[in-house]
Amino acid sequence: MNFREIADLEKRTLIPTYERLPLLAVRGEGCFLFDENGKRYLDFLGGLAVNSLGYAHPEIAEVLRDPSESLLHVSNLIYHRYQAPLAEKLTKLSGLDRAFFANTGTEAVEGALKLARAWARKNAKGAASERYELLALENSFHGRTFGALSSTWPEKYRKPFEPLLPGVKFIRSNDVAHLRESFTPAVGALILEVIQGEGGVVELHEDFLKEAERLCRANGAILICDEIQCGLGRTGRWFAYQKFGLKPDIVLVAKPLAAGLPLAAILAREEVALAFSPGMHGTTFGGGPLQCRLALKYLEILGRPGFLEQVRERGAYFRGQLERLKAELPIIREVRGDGLMLAAELDAPGKDAVRQGLEAGLIFNCTQERVLRFLPPLVIERSHVDTLIAGLRPILTSLEAPKTQGVHA
Ligand SMILES: Cc1ncc(COP(=O)(O)O)c(C=O)c1O
Repeated sequence: MNFREIADLEKRTLIPTYERLPLLAVRGEGCFLFDENGKRYLDFLGGLAVNSLGYAHPEIAEVLRDPSESLLHVSNLIYHRYQAPLAEKLTKLSGLDRAFFANTGTEAVEGALKLARAWARKNAKGAASERYELLALENSFHGRTFGALSSTWPEKYRKPFEPLLPGVKFIRSNDVAHLRESFTPAVGALILEVIQGEGGVVELHEDFLKEAERLCRANGAILICDEIQCGLGRTGRWFAYQKFGLKPDIVLVAKPLAAGLPLAAILAREEVALAFSPGMHGTTFGGGPLQCRLALKYLEILGRPGFLEQVRERGAYFRGQLERLKAELPIIREVRGDGLMLAAELDAPGKDAVRQGLEAGLIFNCTQERVLRFLPPLVIERSHVDTLIAGLRPILTSLEAPKTQGVHA
């Protein structure tokens, strides 16, 4: 079937939740995707931060094709050889003590909210029901299932599904005073993204993060860092919170962990982790042998000498080139981000830039209506950045001041 036939079939058969770009991907190689006509696209979106090693990475392909491995799934009722080593690796890297494996980001968030609730109950000594409040941040995105959705900021995602989880309060990002006044004895947990991804690549400030940590400690609340988009190498560090020396109680990872297959993890401090006991939480597919083997390989590759330094170097180069473009083109209002999680906020809607980019063989997306977001594979070269910038220049030049309608992220 060609693109038109597939698109028509989808229109008749899929529940209409996505507005797809007009691109039928049939093959990938490194930082490039190819459509059915062989047209090549430089991918600066990386499957929304999943394809951190690019497409068809030879070592990932080797893990997938290893003829000596026959287990795809065994269930969590029995052992396999790969979950424990992966847990050991992730806990060492994060400074936490224990792991629970799930499948998707939103599922990890759900588990973390349950764990925080279980911990609060265990430690409440009689006042359990009062510590159920959850603080989340304006501009945040944590997922689409009910708990995660309840802590996700944009109303357009939450409103159609109310009533949601009770007791969630949103704090203005980087507003320390608002954070302080919101910390009542009823707060059981605070969830945040150190760099808010869907929110438009907004970095939280050090003073805000440090105060969040201090308030959690002082009030016996759990600090949850959602590193689903900004973690696992994206900023040139294992975790984005490490830049500030934070010590969260729970860390969540997903997206790139199994190099393209679904795998997520809840990493928790010992005392918090032990608020769960057998039977309190679980998931059929979480931490399957194939996903764990892929994740071990992913972490091995990231841990090689120079890999994360190179991410920081490429990120700094990319950011520098975006800044230069901003100096040329007044339509760019601000350049933001860290490592290879970068954005250019425009003075106009960005939907048309995404469409023109695709025509020019460039993939990136637009979030918050005006923010062009770049989440390229961590293995990009400087020459890929140069190609993107050269392609963006005429596109942004052609965009005028606000005239078209806003767009969806
Ligand atoms: C920070 C963050 N948390 C949670 C999620 C939800 O992850 P998933 O789509 O795998 O459920 C996302 C997805 O974009 C995310 O960026």
